[in-house]
Amino acid sequence: MFECYYGTDNQKVVIKMIDNVPAEKLSLILESTEYARNVQHTNIAQVYNIYNYSSKFRNVLYIVMKLYPHGNLEEFIQVHSPLCQTTILHFVHEIIRGMKYLHARSTPFLHRDISTDNIFLSKSNSTFQNLVIGDFDLGREIVSGADTKVGKDVYAPPEMNQLERTYGIKADVWSLGVVALQLMSGGKFAKKTGMNRPLAIEMVYNTEATVKKIRDLLSVSHTIIYLC
Ligand SMILES: Nc1ncnc2c1ncn2[C@@H]1O[C@H](COP(=O)(O)OP(=O)(O)O)[C@@H](O)[C@H]1O
Ligand SMILES: [Mg+2]
Repeated sequence: MFECYYGTDNQKVVIKMIDNVPAEKLSLILESTEYARNVQHTNIAQVYNIYNYSSKFRNVLYIVMKLYPHGNLEEFIQVHSPLCQTTILHFVHEIIRGMKYLHARSTPFLHRDISTDNIFLSKSNSTFQNLVIGDFDLGREIVSGADTKVGKDVYAPPEMNQLERTYGIKADVWSLGVVALQLMSGGKFAKKTGMNRPLAIEMVYNTEATVKKIRDLLSVSHTIIYLC
């Protein structure tokens, strides 16, 4: 990941380099990034361009993106937790708006890597931050369901871990649920236990106060559903 100046107006951007892309993944990454490049939405991170340098030895991709200098949601949670209810609801709403845009197309676009470090803040120091969903490398348009296990374990829905089961846009919604739990709890997860159940429920609820807060928030979940 490099920060540099780009284009005729010399704006600061981030360039993500992906080296040694396996041939079978190249077209998928190119397609998903090309899709992101054509999206203009307040809750989707801007992708400006993608460069593909492929030789018979290796494939290298350079993805040029808008720089979000205020960091990602993971860092925000670490610094600002515990977050107030208004902020949590606002953040969840921001992510839903971006996700809804991706899913609502005639061929839905499944992100497959929704996580706190792939969601960026586009402003600093404000309760009503604008959040954007980024990192589209693993995304793909789905016609009839996907079956490859990708993304981060802790955000993965149960159906992604079951052989012979396909998954669809609900997989992203599950990941959003994990992000919401992180926002509510301050974001601590226990290590993988090896038990055959979703890792999200291994989240560490370290104080009674956290548990109470989550209960309170769940009781206003109808507000979240209404906002959707
Ligand atoms: N456009 C961006 N602006 C600011 N930070 C970014 C941007 N894209 C990624 N980052 C940050 O750079 C780091 C590496 O991101 P990334 O290369 O996507 O890692 P990974 O492949 O592990 O998801 C993360 O902390 C992420 O939040
Ligand atoms: Mg990432």
